[in-house]
Amino acid sequence: MDKKNKNFYITTPIYYVNDVPHIGHAYTTVICDTIASFNKWLDKNVNFLTGTDEHGQKVEKSALKAGIDPQTFTDNVSKSFYKLANKLEINNTDFIRTTENRHKESVRYLWNKLEDNGDIYLDKYSGWYSIKDEAFYSNDEVTENNKGIKVAPNGSEVEWVEEPSYFFKLSSWQEKLLKFYNDNPEFISPRSRYNEVLSFVNNGLEDLSISRTTFNWGIQVPKNNDHIIYVWLDALTNYISALGYPNKNSHDWKSFWPANIHVVGKDILRFHAVYWPAFLMAADIAVPKKIYAHGWWTVDGKKMSKSTGNVVDPNYIIDKYGLDQFKYFLLREVRFGQDGDFSEEALIKRVNSDLSNDYGNLAQRVLSFIYKNNEALLPSKGVLSIKDKELIKYMNITKDNIINYMQNYQITNALEELWKVISKSNTYIDEEAPWTLKKTDLKRMNTVLYVLCIIIKNVSLIAINFIPIGANKILDQLSIPEDKRKYRNFDDDLIAGTKLLKPEGVFPRLEIEEK
Ligand code: MSP
Repeated sequence: MDKKNKNFYITTPIYYVNDVPHIGHAYTTVICDTIASFNKWLDKNVNFLTGTDEHGQKVEKSALKAGIDPQTFTDNVSKSFYKLANKLEINNTDFIRTTENRHKESVRYLWNKLEDNGDIYLDKYSGWYSIKDEAFYSNDEVTENNKGIKVAPNGSEVEWVEEPSYFFKLSSWQEKLLKFYNDNPEFISPRSRYNEVLSFVNNGLEDLSISRTTFNWGIQVPKNNDHIIYVWLDALTNYISALGYPNKNSHDWKSFWPANIHVVGKDILRFHAVYWPAFLMAADIAVPKKIYAHGWWTVDGKKMSKSTGNVVDPNYIIDKYGLDQFKYFLLREVRFGQDGDFSEEALIKRVNSDLSNDYGNLAQRVLSFIYKNNEALLPSKGVLSIKDKELIKYMNITKDNIINYMQNYQITNALEELWKVISKSNTYIDEEAPWTLKKTDLKRMNTVLYVLCIIIKNVSLIAINFIPIGANKILDQLSIPEDKRKYRNFDDDLIAGTKLLKPEGVFPRLEIEEK
């Protein structure tokens, strides 16, 4: 791996501070943390960025409604996202806030660069704007809903806006974008989203309004303070401002740009897959390698919204069921890229079947058997049978497949693959029946237990990237030192005679509450 390829840069979208965090936000963060963790595990230098998007009309409106000045308001709400990141125990490198000076300077620099390169002009905008989406909509996109309210295709209310505005010459980037998508078919994932973006750009691009004059909460246009820079141009820049752009000597900027992946929800794909590469190309900056759009979570079949009263607080779910349990459910229940439905019942079922019955039980059965019957000492290897060798080989193939899946961001497939080896190992223990061997063939019993310990160790080495708390506890119980839990420790042998800790169930079964 050359030095540059060793570096890996991943970002979450930065969260609007208009409201408290919910499971949708937690999802994006958990996905990114898992990918970041896996790459660290593979010994890459990982830079993982998250943060908050604090400017714009939507945030200003929420501050006004709360009767608080926008800066105090954003300070407060940003904290709740910061706290959520801690609660999720994510290992982010940085947390950027768009109200920080380092960011504002970077945005102004980018603006000047776009202007110098001839991509910005002053005119007047008249058209539709959705404050909820912070997006402009064309006439053909707007319809009337059954209450007679004008709405965008996603149902967000729009209002008519007429004001002086700077424009970005997006139309002149259409051909270059199309060529770029064509040359880089992996730029947008999943494939269906790639096609969606392609057809949007194929239909023609209009110049984009990139400044507003009817509110104050934002970064002023460098040479015209009457204008506030469009919040999406401001927000997207976070991905580079956090690295130190435009400082050419910044170590992070040199090492981590272009990003390996921006993970985003499907609702904000257009901003990332069309506007962002156009801004970057226009400013002579390299384009990120991938935009991955994930799906949306509904709750008990309904869209989450304050008015429905079904907004799920991730803090509540974590306190009630556990962090690993929450994360595992999010990662496993829904194929990355598709929509999913959240319910406590589905979470309980998933946790009980996969974590308690399969993985937890495998570890618990083996470790407590050793504890009771082998004086808590790791058994010696002895002579491996064909079946033992096959199981160990299967584990190795599984590891390679998982690495492959993770390098292609197929998180759900990776977990499915890991669970296949868990299930095979549970069958192996039933067939080999160490409890019977105890009476007939102690040597063989030891070998079977040894093989199982190797599998449990290696399954857990992989699992620490997805469910770190439980997987690390199992590795503790196996007495694997903390500095021996990397990818490179996969082939480490276990040392016979090592004393094991008293095994304890790591994933207790969850009870379904009576309604
Ligand atoms: N501030 C912008 C992003 C700017 S990035 C330069 C934004 N913020 S957001 O807070 O509204 O959304 C942040 C992320 O949360 C988005 O990726 C969005 O898709 C995701 N989710 C918000 N609700 C969600 C669900 N119900 N389900 C899954 N993800 C969802 O957009």
